[in-house]
Amino acid sequence: MPRRRAAERPGFAARVSVRVRAGGRGEEGDGDRAFITELGRRCVMTSVASARPAPPAMVRLAFDRLCEIVESQSHVTLIAQRNGERVGFLLFLDQLPDEVTTLPQGFVAYMAVEPDHRGVGVGAALLAAAEGEARRRGLPYMALMVTEENEAARKLYHRSGYRTERRLLCKRL
Ligand SMILES: CC(C)(COP(=O)(O)OP(=O)(O)OC[C@H]1O[C@@H](n2cnc3c(N)ncnc32)[C@H](O)[C@@H]1OP(=O)(O)O)[C@@H](O)C(=O)NCCC(=O)NCCS
Repeated sequence: MPRRRAAERPGFAARVSVRVRAGGRGEEGDGDRAFITELGRRCVMTSVASARPAPPAMVRLAFDRLCEIVESQSHVTLIAQRNGERVGFLLFLDQLPDEVTTLPQGFVAYMAVEPDHRGVGVGAALLAAAEGEARRRGLPYMALMVTEENEAARKLYHRSGYRTERRLLCKRL
């Protein structure tokens, strides 16, 4: 059996046993959507920067809208499990070319890990699995947006090899 590169092996970076599976498939996929909605709504305030404060209710609504947009396009849903329990998810678009170069890419719309399961590699395992799926689809890049003050996410992405490509600027008027 050919050896796969470490980054293609779901869960390679985890310090605990993590299973990453495709979401929404078969019996075990029942409840994935509800899990994503609930965890995403609970976590999404980490994406709000001090440069543009917003009320939590509005941000949660924006997360619901993001999920609808993702679902209306070609996308991949990944669910991370520990001991059979869902502990994280990642959603990425697989047919959204880069707007500057038009090169194909995977674009991470959102990912989140249950607070009690953070810092042990679940996020890294989800990201590695997403990259594996993107490679299988022949996508040469993976891209995403991250809020400047979201230190945990920035650290994860940096350690996983992501580098700043562009900056989103904002000024209060
Ligand atoms: C970002 C997030 C997905 C990371 O998940 P995770 O499972 O903790 O990630 P990992 O365990 O793989 O950790 C990756 C690195 O980040 C570090 N890290 C985790 N939590 C951290 C924190 N609160 N502050 C700083 N670094 C942190 C880990 O220590 C690890 O570094 P290490 O390997 O040097 O120890 C998680 O914090 C989360 O769900 N945040 C809320 C939602 C969110 O912000 N999503 C990203 C939207 S862009």
